[in-house]
Amino acid sequence: MRVKLEEKLIFFLNKLFRRPYGSFGELVAAKTGAGSYFQWEFAQAERSYSAFQPYINLKGKDVLDVGCGLGGKTLFHLQKGAKSVTGLDISQTNAQIAQSCFAGREPESGQRPGLVVADAAAMPFADGSFDLAISTYTFEHLADPAGVLGEIHRVIKPGGEVFISFPPYFSPWGAHLTDWIYFPWCQVLFSEKALLNAARAIEETQHIHASLPDFARVDLTGAVELPHVNKLTVRDFERLLKASSLEVLSKIHRPVGVEKAGMLRPFLSLATKIPVLREAFTSGVVLIGRKPAQND
Ligand SMILES: C[S@@+](CC[C@H](N)C(=O)[O-])C[C@H]1O[C@@H](n2cnc3c(N)ncnc32)[C@H](O)[C@@H]1O
Repeated sequence: MRVKLEEKLIFFLNKLFRRPYGSFGELVAAKTGAGSYFQWEFAQAERSYSAFQPYINLKGKDVLDVGCGLGGKTLFHLQKGAKSVTGLDISQTNAQIAQSCFAGREPESGQRPGLVVADAAAMPFADGSFDLAISTYTFEHLADPAGVLGEIHRVIKPGGEVFISFPPYFSPWGAHLTDWIYFPWCQVLFSEKALLNAARAIEETQHIHASLPDFARVDLTGAVELPHVNKLTVRDFERLLKASSLEVLSKIHRPVGVEKAGMLRPFLSLATKIPVLREAFTSGVVLIGRKPAQND
């Protein structure tokens, strides 16, 4: 009874927020083809990269891209002057697409990124193989984020840097249901069961994902939990960091809507500093970390 009422409210709110809008429109269009999604990742890379300024400098470095997806950002890192870039992803499908996207482009620096299919919690690399590791929009998907942080620490050299950004679970779109449910913070307002029922009902009538290629399709049939998200919160990540051996050089909680906030910006920034509120008002966590050098 309660779930049914929630579902009705979800449909009502969905009608108030028209789809696709803003950057979600671009994302929906990008998902319809592997090439267009690769291009979309590549176009987004500048934004991800600038969040790591002024710390990031890839020139002459051996770089690991953890959770590289279709490789658009992996290629971007190479074009930023890295000596080598290795993309690592658990999905064979994604890595195959990345491989063919790289092959279809003339490499600017005379080389292409490398690709490895593996679980980032058990990386097939020797200790200290890379100068630095980057991971964007991936930590919220990992089954074992603590294990991955440990592996990143192991495979970078002493003194090497780590660049991580991800949207925490209670951020506006942290449920990762935007293809079906178009209003923000749906996971704060409604139960998981109601969200999944509503998303399934929308999929049944609109076939949003049924028509997407394999790499982008999410099957909600029989799902009892939100697919592909580990519900990593700002607080969870703080705890992971404390338990890790990484030194934190910078940790930013990017406030929701910061680009368009105008006069509200100081209030939104303040909200990201207040426990509990910070969970909902942080759109992205940006970490710049370092593996202590041997003589530190
Ligand atoms: C949303 S994509 C992010 C792609 C890219 N980094 C970006 O910023 O656009 C997340 C990627 O993480 C990968 N992934 C999830 N769990 C993983 C794991 N345990 N090990 C390696 N990759 C993983 C997924 O297959 C997916 O390609």
